[in-house]
Amino acid sequence: MNCGDDMKDTYILGIESSCDETSASIIKNGTEEISTVISSQIDIHKDYGGVVPEIASRNHVKNITIVLEECLEKANMTMDEIDAIAITYGPGLIGSLLVGLEAAKTLAFIYNKPLIPVHHIAGHIYANSLVKPLEFPLLAVVVSGGHTELIKMDKHYSFKKLGGTLDDAIGECYDKVARVIGLEYPGGPKLDKLAHEGKDTYDLPIPLNDDTYNFSFSGLKSAVINLAHNEEQRNNEIRKADLACSFENAAISSITNKTKKAIEEFNIKTVIIAGGVAANSFLREEMQKLCDELKVDLSIPPMNYCTDNAAMIGAAGYYAYLDGRKADLKLNAKSQDTLI
Ligand code: KG4
Ligand code: ZN
Repeated sequence: MNCGDDMKDTYILGIESSCDETSASIIKNGTEEISTVISSQIDIHKDYGGVVPEIASRNHVKNITIVLEECLEKANMTMDEIDAIAITYGPGLIGSLLVGLEAAKTLAFIYNKPLIPVHHIAGHIYANSLVKPLEFPLLAVVVSGGHTELIKMDKHYSFKKLGGTLDDAIGECYDKVARVIGLEYPGGPKLDKLAHEGKDTYDLPIPLNDDTYNFSFSGLKSAVINLAHNEEQRNNEIRKADLACSFENAAISSITNKTKKAIEEFNIKTVIIAGGVAANSFLREEMQKLCDELKVDLSIPPMNYCTDNAAMIGAAGYYAYLDGRKADLKLNAKSQDTLI
C-alpha cells in the first residue's frame, strides 16, 4: 500500500457556455475524463455567417438542463458524488455565460457544493492536462477565436502573460479571411483544408515581426481583403487555395517566431497549444518542427479538446479548487477579463 491509496478522488463538474457550445463534463482528479456532453449550435449560426448572441443565449437555455442530466447519466453518478462545480464565468458572450453560470450557482446552492470560477482561457490551457500532467516551466500558446496570447506558467494555476494580440485574434482573422475566400462559417477549419491544396505564392507580410511578444492580425486581414479586391477589379481570378496557403504561412510564422523567442529567453521545458486554432494542421506541424529543433516537449490537445468544451473547465477547475479559488453566489459573468 502506498500513500496514494489513502487519497480520496476528487470529482469536478465542469460547465461551459461562453459562446455557442453548451457543455458539461465530470473530471476526476484534474486529469481523467469521466463523461462529457457537448451540444454545439454551429448549424444554427451557420446561416448568419457567425454567432448571433441572442440566439446563442436562447439555445443555451433550451439545452443546459438536458446537457447536465445527460452528463451525470453517462457517468452513472449523482450530484452527491460531485465535490465541486467549476464554471466559466468569462470572457465570452454575456448572455451565453449567464445561462451556464446561473445553472452552476443553482446546483451549488441546492447541493451545497463549492463553486469554482474558471477563466475560459485557463480552461483551454488545462485541456492539455487531460493528455498528460503539465510540467513547468511551461509556455502556453493560446490561439482561439477570441485570444492570441503567450502565457508562461511556473506552477499550477499561475499565469504570466508575456504578450498578446494588439487587435484581432488569430481565429477571428482565419474566419474573416475564409469569408473573403467564400468559405462557410466557421471558416478556420475549411481554410486549413483548402491551404493544403495550394502553394505560398502570394506575397503577404508576417505581422508584427519584431522582438516583442505581441501579435497583430488586423493588418494581415486587410492585406488579404485588399489583394482579393484588387484581383477582382483587374478581372483576375483569385487562386483561393494559394491565397489560403500564403495567409496561413504568414499567420502561423508570426506565432512560431515568437514562440521560439520565448522558449529561448525563458528556458522553457514544455510548450502547450491551447484554443480552437490548436486544431490547425499547419500550426501543429510547424510547432512540432520548432519543438524538435529546440528539444522541448510539445503538448497538443486532441481535436475534441481544442474547441470549446466543459472537460477543459473541469480540469482547470480541479487545479483552481486546489489553489483555493472559490466563489460565492454573488459571482457574476464577465464578458472581458484578464487571466491571472
Ligand atoms: O477556442 P474556440 O472554440 O473559441 C474561442 O474560445 O474563441 O476557437 C474557435 C476558433 C474559430 O475562429 C475557428 O475558426 C478556429 O478556432 N479554428 C481553426 C481550426 N479549427 C478551429 N482555425 C484554423 N484551423 C483550424 N483547423
Ligand atoms: Zn474557447
